[in-house]
Amino acid sequence: MIPAGQKNTDLRTLTSELVACLEMEQRRGRRFIGLGSAGREALASLGGGAVHFETLEQLQGAVQRCRRCPHLRGRTLAVPGEGNPQARIMFVGEGPGQEEDREGRPFVGPAGQLLTKMLQAIQLDRREVYITNRVKCRPPQNRKPEPEELQACFPFLQEQIRLINPLLLVALGTIAAQGLTGLDRGTSALRGGSYFFKDILCIPTYHPAFLLRRPEFKRQAWEDLQKIRREIDRLWAK
Ligand code: URA
Repeated sequence: MIPAGQKNTDLRTLTSELVACLEMEQRRGRRFIGLGSAGREALASLGGGAVHFETLEQLQGAVQRCRRCPHLRGRTLAVPGEGNPQARIMFVGEGPGQEEDREGRPFVGPAGQLLTKMLQAIQLDRREVYITNRVKCRPPQNRKPEPEELQACFPFLQEQIRLINPLLLVALGTIAAQGLTGLDRGTSALRGGSYFFKDILCIPTYHPAFLLRRPEFKRQAWEDLQKIRREIDRLWAK
């Protein structure tokens, strides 16, 4: 008899291998006519590798059913993200907190209220931007996401960025900034600089939850917001 843990590992390995095979076939130009979008969603929810969706709705469905990450099964609701699917600017945070977990929407708690004010300060409305997180489910007790969790969830963020194709990405806090820049440094070291995720300009700034705890950093955050506004004016004018 196979012990339960072993069975899970075997299933996960098998699923990852299946996904890898399908991805290889896809890279060779083969389309999975038989698999269909529901099949692809199911595989994305289980598997470990890259994912591919045709629409944001498909991606959201897969996130809501996601079982890629055993540590995050304690979630109430997954929080895929929300906003304008054609947004020219996308904000990426760390992961849902308690209120986001309850509502299934990003940045609705105290940090979200500050984010809304930060957007308003540079004449942006929440409805015109897209807001998401690096991990889509609340880590237990609001702890930092583990590296395996970040890795398991990252393909969803990559796909959101590919589908929305914004002109500008704003990384809120270290976890988002590290994911988007690929650099292993904190927000203080990364902010002020401009980076690229694929060919999309990425500006890191402080996470609003950090600013609530450390309001003395709001002046620097304001400088970052002004830089974001300048880039919006430059990029939108093109
Ligand atoms: N903090 C985040 O990083 N994301 C949210 O959605 C809420 C709080």
